[in-house]
Amino acid sequence: RILILDFGSQVTQLIARRLRETGVYCEIWPFTASDDRIRAFAPKGIILSGGPASVTEGASPRAPGYVFESGLPVLGICYGQQTMCAQLGGAVEGHDHREFGRAFVEVTADSLLTRDIWQKGAREQVWMSHGDRVTKLPPGFRPVAGSEGAPFAVIADDTRRYYGVQFHPEVVHTPHGSALLRTFTHQVCGCRGDWTMGAFRAEMIERIRTQVGKGRVICGLSGGVDSSVAAVLIHEAIGDQLTCIYVDHGLMRANESEQVVRTFRDRFNIRLIHRDASELFLGQLSGVTDPEVKRKTIGRLFIEVFEEEQTRLGGADFLAQGTLYPDVIESVSATGGPSVTIKSHHNVGGLPAHMRMQLVEPLRELFKDEVRALGRELGIPEEIVGRHPFPGPGLAIRIPGEVTREKADLLRKVDTIYLEEIRAAGLYDAIWQAFAVLLPVRTVGVMGDGRTYDQACALRAVTSTDGMTADVYPFDMGFLSRVSNRIVNEVRGVNRVTYDITSKPPGTIEWE
Ligand code: XMP
Repeated sequence: RILILDFGSQVTQLIARRLRETGVYCEIWPFTASDDRIRAFAPKGIILSGGPASVTEGASPRAPGYVFESGLPVLGICYGQQTMCAQLGGAVEGHDHREFGRAFVEVTADSLLTRDIWQKGAREQVWMSHGDRVTKLPPGFRPVAGSEGAPFAVIADDTRRYYGVQFHPEVVHTPHGSALLRTFTHQVCGCRGDWTMGAFRAEMIERIRTQVGKGRVICGLSGGVDSSVAAVLIHEAIGDQLTCIYVDHGLMRANESEQVVRTFRDRFNIRLIHRDASELFLGQLSGVTDPEVKRKTIGRLFIEVFEEEQTRLGGADFLAQGTLYPDVIESVSATGGPSVTIKSHHNVGGLPAHMRMQLVEPLRELFKDEVRALGRELGIPEEIVGRHPFPGPGLAIRIPGEVTREKADLLRKVDTIYLEEIRAAGLYDAIWQAFAVLLPVRTVGVMGDGRTYDQACALRAVTSTDGMTADVYPFDMGFLSRVSNRIVNEVRGVNRVTYDITSKPPGTIEWE
């Protein structure tokens, strides 16, 4: 196992991900971790991450003393390299020639870290992001590669097994970055690379048991990938000490609620409360047309209902959440104390202060695709594990204008046909999100000999890696015509189909 000490870089999480991809278990801790804690963790090597501070400023963060007393191999990345140099007797200075983005390094010497990857004399692409740079090497180090802005872009002390890189090997824009990290973990530190999702599962189960003891845990299940995987994992650890609450707002897709109940109650034997609150939600949404008011209304009701169910259960000691790594931004404050902020994005279900319980968040270290892999490992059906993201407020934000049960029913029919065709064409997994929107517009049509005056709908399908930006999925015309024909023929009340071709930005993925 490898320990990553975090100095607050935006991309620290990618180091962990790259390591796991090569079968190495690692954990990310704040740089303030105590010597004793690190010793007890017994890592085979330590990676110091990048960070926003400047070593040249007095109170900037430093690696714990144990890092350099332990005799363990150390790799410093960007800020990590700079603090390593500053702590071991080198020098770091601010410089006018700052480097951000793509840069090239000249490889001038061999080292254990680079010898299988970069040949002496080669010019290699890397991704830089720094203002300061190392200007004097500590005793024992020698330069291995340099760039225009960073003469010591790679430095090595093969004897002590200390390495520093000014660039970021963890980002994909450094083409051989993964290989460098792999060399560090496998060859320098001697990791075997036999860590698997199965091992993670076993480790997490132990950790959940230790954290929870005999306590009771509740989990809000939404039917989405994250809460599903969290619930099954926790259930495997503590069985009936876990109760899941599924607040059904009546704005799910067709058959989804039944599927959630069937899967978790019948297949996994999880204690599940299915609260059908559709009357309440739809009642309170009556007359509401503003998207943000819809979100707030749904969010408030969700909490009310969840709280009611929790009280009925007699309370709980822990709240389980399917928080993923990208939701957790570990930032480092000026005083050196790490602070954790959870992105609130637009999730329904942020809980009010008086309900705060201790959290059980077994997925905090994982990325979405890793959660999916863990879900498969746990035997969760593909239709849940591979499911497209679905917004907390559900179909409410796919029905511009007032939401009614009739409109939701109509939209469910359109959506079902659209998704059926996407699945039949084998396109589901190539798409990030696909859904239909019921437009608050009636248009004239002709069917047979008659005139129709019915609603229009829009279809949307996008590709994306994180939902932050998105491209339109380029269906062929034949596919779109087939879907359009089916919708207009099979869904009474809809007589026109459009395809939304707006990317994000400037559009958003959802219409509201
Ligand atoms: P936008 O529409 O902002 O969506 O481009 C980005 C991603 O977030 C989802 N989304 C939501 N998820 N509650 C959620 O839980 C919301 O209110 C909400 N609004 C948008 C959207 O489906 C997409 O995946």
